[in-house]
Amino acid sequence: MTNYIDQNDPNEKVDELALDAEQGVGHAVHDRAAVVIDRSAHVGSSQDALVRVDDCTAGYLPGVNILEGCDLYANEGEFVGIIGPNGAGKSTLLKALFGLVRVREGVVTLRGEDITNMRADQLVQRGIGFVPQTNNVFPSLTIEENLQMGAYQAPKKFPERFEFVCSLFPALGERRKQRAGSLSGGERQMVAMGRALMMEPSVLLLDEPSAGLAPGLQDEVFMRARSINRSGVTVIMVEQNAARCLQVVDRGYVLDQGRNAYTGSGRELANDPKVIELYLGTLSKA
Ligand SMILES: Nc1ncnc2c1ncn2[C@@H]1O[C@H](COP(=O)(O)OP(=O)(O)O)[C@@H](O)[C@H]1O
Ligand SMILES: [Mg+2]
Repeated sequence: MTNYIDQNDPNEKVDELALDAEQGVGHAVHDRAAVVIDRSAHVGSSQDALVRVDDCTAGYLPGVNILEGCDLYANEGEFVGIIGPNGAGKSTLLKALFGLVRVREGVVTLRGEDITNMRADQLVQRGIGFVPQTNNVFPSLTIEENLQMGAYQAPKKFPERFEFVCSLFPALGERRKQRAGSLSGGERQMVAMGRALMMEPSVLLLDEPSAGLAPGLQDEVFMRARSINRSGVTVIMVEQNAARCLQVVDRGYVLDQGRNAYTGSGRELANDPKVIELYLGTLSKA
């Protein structure tokens, strides 16, 4: 378990709680100038990682950084979770990994190859799959057509990959002619995951796959993500259901205000009093 923020720093303000009255979100207030980030554990552990994000700074508007020196790595076969308050930069981190937001400083690597700011289609060819948080299916197309779109860069792969995806999500095969727009939220999420799996990715990025789903369906999505991971795919999943996320992942990161706040195994984070107080308690339930 690593608390990235130097506890000995007398200026550290991590103990203060900011309450967003409207959303009921509690998060640590970092005095940005005073925070000292300890990157040594990341640097030491990530040398052989499949995917690495090192000291990444990224943002949308000129002069405004959303990520301010983020680190993340995933080893081959790992299931990694990212949690944190709304607006922490979780989606931005996945987008930075997938070439959808410009990395201003820092390096992203896949199997040691520098992939920083590569285009998304090139990343797909290199084995990264991405399921965005919203608008992740083509509603007017059928399930089968959605999956074909996933394989448009390698149409010959379609039959074999379609079979694989249907072995993970049998309902998709049974209802292949149904339009995605007529499916429930949970079913659409399966289509979106299936589409991203069509190119046989070695890494799958999932942005809040359980958002907006009823609790029973959320659980199903977590189990699906777990079976994708067990099939050999490295999974990096951002989740709003932080407690459940930490139960299913191997390792997790807490992101807060564009920085790493805590990291450790899912179990370590789920049992850490600070993480519970700041991110898993009643205050942090958005
Ligand atoms: N396309 C965008 N243009 C400008 N600002 C954005 C854009 N997307 C997100 N942001 C801002 O970046 C910050 C982090 O957003 P995001 O990464 O979506 O957070 P999270 O996924 O943790 O909720 C927020 O302040 C948000 O307003
Ligand atoms: Mg998000």
